[in-house]
Amino acid sequence: MKIETRAVHAGRKPEGGSRDVVPAIHLSTTFHKAEDGSLPGGYLYGRPNNPNREALENALASLEEGAAALAFSSGSAATLAVFQSLAPGDHVIAPEDAYYGTPTLLRTVMANWGLTHTLVHMEDLAAVERAMTPATRLIWTETPSNPLLKITDLRAIVALARKSGAMVACDNTCATPLFQQPLKLGADVVMHSVTKYLSGHSDVLSGALIFREANAFFERVHNFQREGGGVPSPFECWLSLRGMQTFPYRVRAHAANAQKVAEFLATQPHIEAVHYPGLKSHPGYKIAAAQMSGFGGVMSIQMKGGQAEAFKLISGVKLFSHATSLGSTHSLIEHRASVEGTASHTPVNLLRLSIGLEHPDDLIEDLEQALEKL
Ligand SMILES: Cc1ncc(COP(=O)(O)O)c(C=O)c1O
Repeated sequence: MKIETRAVHAGRKPEGGSRDVVPAIHLSTTFHKAEDGSLPGGYLYGRPNNPNREALENALASLEEGAAALAFSSGSAATLAVFQSLAPGDHVIAPEDAYYGTPTLLRTVMANWGLTHTLVHMEDLAAVERAMTPATRLIWTETPSNPLLKITDLRAIVALARKSGAMVACDNTCATPLFQQPLKLGADVVMHSVTKYLSGHSDVLSGALIFREANAFFERVHNFQREGGGVPSPFECWLSLRGMQTFPYRVRAHAANAQKVAEFLATQPHIEAVHYPGLKSHPGYKIAAAQMSGFGGVMSIQMKGGQAEAFKLISGVKLFSHATSLGSTHSLIEHRASVEGTASHTPVNLLRLSIGLEHPDDLIEDLEQALEKL
């Protein structure tokens, strides 16, 4: 079945006496038991399971074509569940350029817990190989990366990991399962900030892990989810599932708009560099074209006039909202280095743009008038 059909149907079943087509929201945290203590409805308590979360997890597993999925209260909670399901003394390799919260978790939370890590330029396979140690249990990838839109060759990373028995996880937030299926390329776990494209409207905070196999590592993470309880509420699960119905159509439009905006920005004299994997000039273009069927809706630009000019461009745009996050209907623009703080490697003249679902001509006109004012 094609992904558009799965996005509409997966995880949903007619429920209850009223046989709803749209699932109901199950707020109850506790469920009736039978006299013998068994659970006729299949649910015990809201932390281990809930009908809305189960529906969301089934749909996520279907979209990524995985064996099982687990939903969390945010993308970062999902990432943390992977890290905390490793053992103290284990070693993780992660990208230098990644959503800044991921290396921050490794540095400020997991290091205290005995998990060691090395950050590398993941597009440099020799650097990844050099970073491997006998204790390396996980290579964390994020492709395209946020905010520099770097491309990691997933097949090559999987081949490297297999040699030493390490697992590969991929943050697939920017690509989405429409454009990239890391599990098919051999990754063991896919992570999503469902907050972004999958829910799609900047009104949900949620995250997910999807596993290629329901193996022992999945069981460890499942135990962590059940016992730790960092799960999304029934309403957030319901909103996520609702957003996911339209995600393939939205993401296709985000990417088509982004391609036009990137091509326009690449011709602008005030702009030093445009980072968008759909541009043939992007160093990762060939690998992106080989492992993705589209290039997504996020890009970043570097201004010739430095940080001051970057802020001036932000104050000149009218349609782009000056706000963090990505993957929403609204176009967003943000100076990343000032959000990421002192540990940031992001250039200070960089702006990240999340291209929304407005008409691309209007977005280009907006950027054009702001660039003219510089
Ligand atoms: C690529 C990527 N991964 C992970 C996250 C973290 O997700 P959340 O904000 O849902 O915790 C984000 C958030 O911006 C992100 O952009």
